[in-house]
Amino acid sequence: MLSESSGTTGRSRLAVVPARHAFGAEIEDLDLRTIDDDDFSSIYRAWLHHSVLLFRGQILTDDDLIAFSEKFGELDWAPVQESGRRFVEGHPEIYVVSNVIKNGEPIGSLGAGEAAWHTDMSYLPDPPKASILYALEVPPAGGNTYFCNMYRAYELLPEELKRRTERLMLKHDGTYNSGGYVRQGVTAADNLITSRGAFHPLVCTHAETKRRVLYLGRRRNAYIDGLSLPDSESLLDQLWSYATREEFAWHNEWRVGDLVLWDNRCTMHRRDPFDETARRIMHRTQIKGENAPQRMNGAPDRRRKDKLKKVCLIAVQH
Ligand code: OGA
Ligand code: MN
Repeated sequence: MLSESSGTTGRSRLAVVPARHAFGAEIEDLDLRTIDDDDFSSIYRAWLHHSVLLFRGQILTDDDLIAFSEKFGELDWAPVQESGRRFVEGHPEIYVVSNVIKNGEPIGSLGAGEAAWHTDMSYLPDPPKASILYALEVPPAGGNTYFCNMYRAYELLPEELKRRTERLMLKHDGTYNSGGYVRQGVTAADNLITSRGAFHPLVCTHAETKRRVLYLGRRRNAYIDGLSLPDSESLLDQLWSYATREEFAWHNEWRVGDLVLWDNRCTMHRRDPFDETARRIMHRTQIKGENAPQRMNGAPDRRRKDKLKKVCLIAVQH
């Protein structure tokens, strides 16, 4: 266990229990409704250090979840649900991830199938910097969520691959969500060149830790700008093989009351499928990104600006 001093007020220590490779950590015995400023700065430091934090045993209303989330920055309004419904009545910040059907319509998104590896909303010019997922109902088995460490992915790359990727731009597709559902207002398409999305550098510098990350977003319809399709596919397959190695992943087997907070700039996540007759209800918030993902030396990229203009036009509302 790693203890963090939380200053002179409030509780004197925060119990931070790191997982393997210090990627992912659980913060024990903390009621997120009652944290003070010192607790929050310890949480923030632990979050930057471990990238994913788990808090168990929480009892939060949507207002409590929003109040905790807002400590990290301004919140996005939730994306449109697969059903076309905009958000939870009275709480535009809450996105529902659920397979539960009510009055013939799903109350949330992603169903009960697998959700493929992804970074939340990296198909936008300014993706959210963090997401928070809170478990209200969980199935007896399955539906576990896995996270991978994109700092580690970059570090694992052989030098030659690092050099090859550091100047490249990647298109992050915005046609499908991680469950394979077509996003609202978009037509299904699998043309890697013309499908909609945002371009980001393949290797980015994290805005706060200043560490390098491999920024892959999602695999489907991904395309490396300027390469032939076969070259782009083969380089992406190679890069993905470093990113999603089981031995460096962290996962959560959900219990009711679990809250998981992740840094969306340096992680990807995926979800196991579960029995569709079981119920799973999660509420999610997302914290606005303060910057577009930055190229590793921080220099702006002209090609990217031109392309961003185009994608901004089609990215509104998503
Ligand atoms: C998400 C997500 C996976 C899950 O909320 O962004 O990908 O485990 N959820 O529900
Ligand atoms: Mn997600």
